[in-house]
Amino acid sequence: MTRRVRIALLGYGGVGRAFATACERQAPTIRAHDGVVPELVLVRRSTMEAAPVADRPAEDWRWTPCTDLSTSLHATGVEIVVQAVPGGATSATSARDDVLAALGAGTHVVTATKSHLVAHWAELDTAARSASRAIRVSAAAGAGLPAVDLARRGVRGFGCVRIRGSLNGTSNVVLEHMADGMTLADAIAHAVEAGIAEPDPRGDLRGDDAAAKMAILANLAWGPPAHEARLTIEPIDEAVAPRAKEVRNYGTALRAVATATAHPRDISVELQAVAQGDPLYGLHGAEKAVEFDCGAAGSVVVSGGRSSPYAAGLAMLKDVVNLLSGDASPGF
Ligand SMILES: NC(=O)c1ccc[n+]([C@@H]2O[C@H](COP(=O)([O-])OP(=O)(O)OC[C@H]3O[C@@H](n4cnc5c(N)ncnc54)[C@H](OP(=O)(O)O)[C@@H]3O)[C@@H](O)[C@H]2O)c1
Repeated sequence: MTRRVRIALLGYGGVGRAFATACERQAPTIRAHDGVVPELVLVRRSTMEAAPVADRPAEDWRWTPCTDLSTSLHATGVEIVVQAVPGGATSATSARDDVLAALGAGTHVVTATKSHLVAHWAELDTAARSASRAIRVSAAAGAGLPAVDLARRGVRGFGCVRIRGSLNGTSNVVLEHMADGMTLADAIAHAVEAGIAEPDPRGDLRGDDAAAKMAILANLAWGPPAHEARLTIEPIDEAVAPRAKEVRNYGTALRAVATATAHPRDISVELQAVAQGDPLYGLHGAEKAVEFDCGAAGSVVVSGGRSSPYAAGLAMLKDVVNLLSGDASPGF
């Protein structure tokens, strides 16, 4: 028997549309394997909302000004809210408020947005647990790279003491180009042209994006810290170019390495020369990797998976399917 599951999608940009496409493309597989069909019943953009009409392009849907989110969710009988709205400090509050409204309306939440997770983790976790609902975040820290699954479940009980990773594709590509001899401006221009970097990659090159992803992995692995984590970030700027070249001459590669330690809870993003044999050495282009240092259980490494909007859409679909097939424990 097939169960149809009503979904509201908040955000209809690159990732939101990719999620909608992934639902369509993967529907036969999910129906056959898991017996569920995700059905989009509400799509909201920044100011407008619509009920999708099957086989009609979004331009033909009847878009009306957004109404109160709780009211819309109750009216449409939504079970899962999927959120792909912009991050950034200014959006963190509204993204948080939407998650709280969704939990209050009795839905689970799957999100690709990072800012509210970093700023409001404990508050969101508490709200989800008291509503007996789940928040899932695969797309927010790795997209196609299943680092979140490992942090949340895969290394549980292994005594993981440190997580280390290369988590920002733009930083990797820009550092590679600078090692090839390009200036920072040329390296950014090439990365933008290749579709890897955003037109304004300052948040990536400052290390903010990698630090946020690492904070999310750390919270999943160890819970939120009792006191705010100590944060150290080394940005990629013009002065890094000669260092990237020099490091290459010694047979090593300069990487923006994000690290989190369990005790004390420190998060850092530092430019480090990594040698052959290091899991972060052989990354090409925008590839990412994360290493979990699990003491007696050894080092667990995950790498690969795309960072594209479509991979993020698939990661959200994975969270939706897992929620519907037994992994709906409350909170994160
Ligand atoms: N791009 C990737 O590969 C990737 C991978 C993983 C995670 N992410 C994260 O996914 C999120 C979305 O990224 P994106 O590339 O899809 O962004 P985007 O193309 O800028 O689209 C953002 C969408 O959110 C809508 N929006 C803004 N505020 C909203 C609100 N309060 N309620 C409902 N919708 C709202 C916008 O509405 P309008 O259409 O009206 O402007 C737009 O449709 C970001 O947080 C990003 O960091 C992205």
